[in-house]
Amino acid sequence: MLLITDRAERSRSLERVLAYWGSCAVADIAKQPSGPGYRPSRLVLTDIDLSCSESVLAARRILAASPARGRPHLCVLRGAPAHAEVQANAIGATVTLSADMPPGMIRAKIAEVLGDRDAPDEAAHLPQRLQRDIATATAAMADLLAAAALDGPLPVGAIDAGVAAINRATEESDLGDWLSLVRRHDDLTYQHCLLVSALAAAFGRTLGFSEKDRGLLTAASVLHDIGKARIPVAILQKEGALTAEERAVICRHTEFGHGMLVRQGGFGGEILDAVLSHHEYLDGSGYPQGLQGAQISDLVRMVTICDIYAALIERRSYKAPMAPTEAYGVLTGMAADKLDRALLRAFERVAFAGAASARNS
Ligand SMILES: [Fe+2]
Ligand SMILES: [Fe+2]
Repeated sequence: MLLITDRAERSRSLERVLAYWGSCAVADIAKQPSGPGYRPSRLVLTDIDLSCSESVLAARRILAASPARGRPHLCVLRGAPAHAEVQANAIGATVTLSADMPPGMIRAKIAEVLGDRDAPDEAAHLPQRLQRDIATATAAMADLLAAAALDGPLPVGAIDAGVAAINRATEESDLGDWLSLVRRHDDLTYQHCLLVSALAAAFGRTLGFSEKDRGLLTAASVLHDIGKARIPVAILQKEGALTAEERAVICRHTEFGHGMLVRQGGFGGEILDAVLSHHEYLDGSGYPQGLQGAQISDLVRMVTICDIYAALIERRSYKAPMAPTEAYGVLTGMAADKLDRALLRAFERVAFAGAASARNS
């Protein structure tokens, strides 16, 4: 994937959408107007001010320097409307996108352009309703993180739709099906959040939670890493070991996320706690506040267990997914006073519910 932009910050939501299909190189015209050559990519997305001749010229140079035969080229129509379409054609765009299209629609358009052969095939055996729920939850998560990246108001309707879809899906279908589908795209924050959310929804059901409480737990999980939308993608998706500085930047996602929700208002205390405190441990060794024992609510303890387990079973470009038995073993092997032992025992049924499918994927 190659993204050409003249304002990288504005294009971050597009970068996240593109990364759904694999690693995304960003040609930032503002930083490097001449641009280096980029490796052949499956698709190019250009997001520049088409009324700015310097940007258009720079984009043409970058395109000329990177092999392009038969490759789809999508272009966001930005700039004076009368000229944008003409300029988009002039730089070889094969598909144009309106600048106000929400990320969920852009994602659907790219899937259509790419023929997204993997997804329909892999999902073909699954009930239509589950496929619809996964699509709804994924689009909701994409819209949510895109809004968070721009520091705009979070789309409450999308959160509610995503929570409802996740609860329905994990109620009516095999959790393993959900996990195996979601894990295909695990290098993205929203895929991680979908995994954590589905595990949490199943966890709440295992413990006999009411529908209301399960909705709360799922919503907290959907939002738990929302602050990662403000962390540079280069750090989030770095394949090698993180430096101490980079790790410190990532750790700030809890405070960033909490701050976003507080500023917007309308989110309950349990959700705020989960977003701020899901990396706390009962023995006080977690962050950001080093909370201990009773200072950490049951709901936060549950999100923490689901979060760690999800990270272990995720597939990354640099690591194979851990098998459910092994991942559950890592959790039980953690220092006895970090996680809630009773909740961890109850989580065993959730962890193994997806085991068969996870082994096969
Ligand atoms: Fe987190
Ligand atoms: Fe997380």
